[in-house]
Amino acid sequence: MDKRQLSRILLTLILLTAFGTVHAYADHGHTLPQKVGILLVAFGSSEDSAQVSFENIEKQVETAFPDIPVRWAYTSHIIRAKLAKQGKRLDSPEVALARMQDENFTHVAVQSLHTIGGEEYHDLCRTVESFKIMGRFQKIILGYPLMSAQEDMERTVAAILKTIPRERKKNEAVVLMGHGTPHPSNAFYAALMFQLQLKDPNIFVGTVEGYPDVDVIKELMLQKKIKKAYLMPFMSVAGDHAKNDMAGDEEDSWKSVFTKAGIACVPVMKGTAEYDDLVAIWVDHIRGPLKHFE
Ligand code: CO
Repeated sequence: MDKRQLSRILLTLILLTAFGTVHAYADHGHTLPQKVGILLVAFGSSEDSAQVSFENIEKQVETAFPDIPVRWAYTSHIIRAKLAKQGKRLDSPEVALARMQDENFTHVAVQSLHTIGGEEYHDLCRTVESFKIMGRFQKIILGYPLMSAQEDMERTVAAILKTIPRERKKNEAVVLMGHGTPHPSNAFYAALMFQLQLKDPNIFVGTVEGYPDVDVIKELMLQKKIKKAYLMPFMSVAGDHAKNDMAGDEEDSWKSVFTKAGIACVPVMKGTAEYDDLVAIWVDHIRGPLKHFE
């Protein structure tokens, strides 16, 4: 690259930065004071049983960051439409961010409340990216989902071990039911099972819509001659999947499939976001973006 090309690139960068700054700081000549906000983004749920999870997350976020206003968005269009019919308005991430922009927030930490970085999370990445480029925020940063780095995996394993019902005996299984996805990050579920089994060989992690599925988990339990299993959702809420796919009476529910294979089932109807140690991982993921705002 010659000198002229380089200076042109530098000039462009300087102009872009300067314009970006002026545009972001000023609203028709008035400088906006710094206003930091948190946007919590969940898949969403229309089940009443899910609300306890969302309330617990909100409580813990507000305790950790008492001076920062918190807003919510649901990524699921279907859930938002269902709630709208019941008269409950929940925003998409796009609408929630536009509202925050209107409220003159200057710095926004967007926190994914997803379990893995799957499709929903990557859609959210694109939304945050577009607000970064076109929006009026000075800074907008997205926090990681529950499991992203190995450190998260280790914390998740430790937290899960604490959630296991006390009455469960070592020769009985604990089966976690994750959501699962065609996205490559589905591999996190098997990775989690591997790391859990290093601590406790009778813990299994399956998924409703990905791999390992219910039949894989059933086979693994039969190989180990398991006679009883505690079924626990590995989703932030104990919503529709927990109620029907995990603990439902339909023939293809996990409870029915395992029971038919001679394994007695004890469903535990609690979402991961009902356990403080797991919520703490999401909460700590908000600290990263907030540090960049100082
Ligand atoms: Co689903």
